[in-house]
Amino acid sequence: MSAYTLGPLLYEGKAKRVHATNHDDVVAVEYKDDATAFNALKKAQLAGKGELNCRISALVFERLAARGVPTHYLGVDGSNWMLVRPVRVIPIEVVIRNIAAGSLCKQMPIGAGTPLDPPLLDLYYKDDAFGDPLLTEARLELLGLVSPVQRQAIEDLARLVNRELLELFTEAGLILVDFKIELGLTQSGELVLADEISPDTCRLWDGAVADDQDRILDKDRFRQDLGGVVEAYGQVCKRVQGVCPEPRHYG
Ligand code: TMP
Ligand code: ASP
Repeated sequence: MSAYTLGPLLYEGKAKRVHATNHDDVVAVEYKDDATAFNALKKAQLAGKGELNCRISALVFERLAARGVPTHYLGVDGSNWMLVRPVRVIPIEVVIRNIAAGSLCKQMPIGAGTPLDPPLLDLYYKDDAFGDPLLTEARLELLGLVSPVQRQAIEDLARLVNRELLELFTEAGLILVDFKIELGLTQSGELVLADEISPDTCRLWDGAVADDQDRILDKDRFRQDLGGVVEAYGQVCKRVQGVCPEPRHYG
C-alpha cells in the first residue's frame, strides 16, 4: 500500500504539476513531457523528458543531500513522481555561470565560452508576466522580496550548490556551463533548494566532444532546434547515475 494518497492539484507550471497529498508536510511533483522555451513562445511534447528530468533531479538531490545541502527532496515514486517538502518558493531565480553562454552573451560584450572566475551570480525576478527580468540590488530592495540577511543566505547556498554540482558533473564527464535554481522556505522557516536540477535548468556540455553544437546535452538543443533532445537528456542521466546514490523510494 502506498504511504500517501494524492490530493488536489495545487499548481501547474510549464514542466511540472504540484499536487497536495493527505500529509500536510508532503507534496507530490509530477514531471511532464512538455518542453517550453523563450517564456513558452516555443512549445513541444518530448516523450520521455518528464521521466528523465525526474530521475536526473532525484539523483542530483540525493547526492546534494548526502553532502549536507538542504533540499526539499524526500524521494521518488514511479518514474515521474517526486515527493518533496512543501515550501514557499522565493520568487527569485538564481543563475550561476561558470562559462559565458546564453543571455549573458546576448546582453554583454563577452564571447561565448569565456571562463568566468569567480563564477557570475545573477538574480532574476521570477514572474513570467514580466519575462523574469534581471534584478538589480536597488530593485530587489524596492520589491522587498528578501531581507539583506536572507539575500546573503540565498547567495551562499547557491554558491555551495555550484561547488557541489561542478564536482558532480566533472566526475560524470560533463562541463557545467551555468544553471538556474529556485529556493524556498519550509514550514519551519528553513531555506532549502527547491524546484529541479536537470538539463532543463542547467547548461551541460559533453567534456569529451569539441564541436560546439555536438557537445550540447541540455535544453539548448531544443531552444536552437538541434534535435536529439531526449537522447541528450538520456546521456546526462546515464552519466549522472554513475556518480550519485540511487534515489530512495518514498513510502
Ligand atoms: P540564460 O543564459 O538564458 O539566462 O540561462 C541561464 C541558465 O538558466 C541556463 O542554464 C538555463 C537556465 N534557465 C532556466 O532554467 N529557466 C529559464 O527560464 C531561463 C531563461 C534559463
Ligand atoms: N523556461 C523558460 C520557458 O519555458 C525559458 C527557457 O528555459 O528557455 O519559456
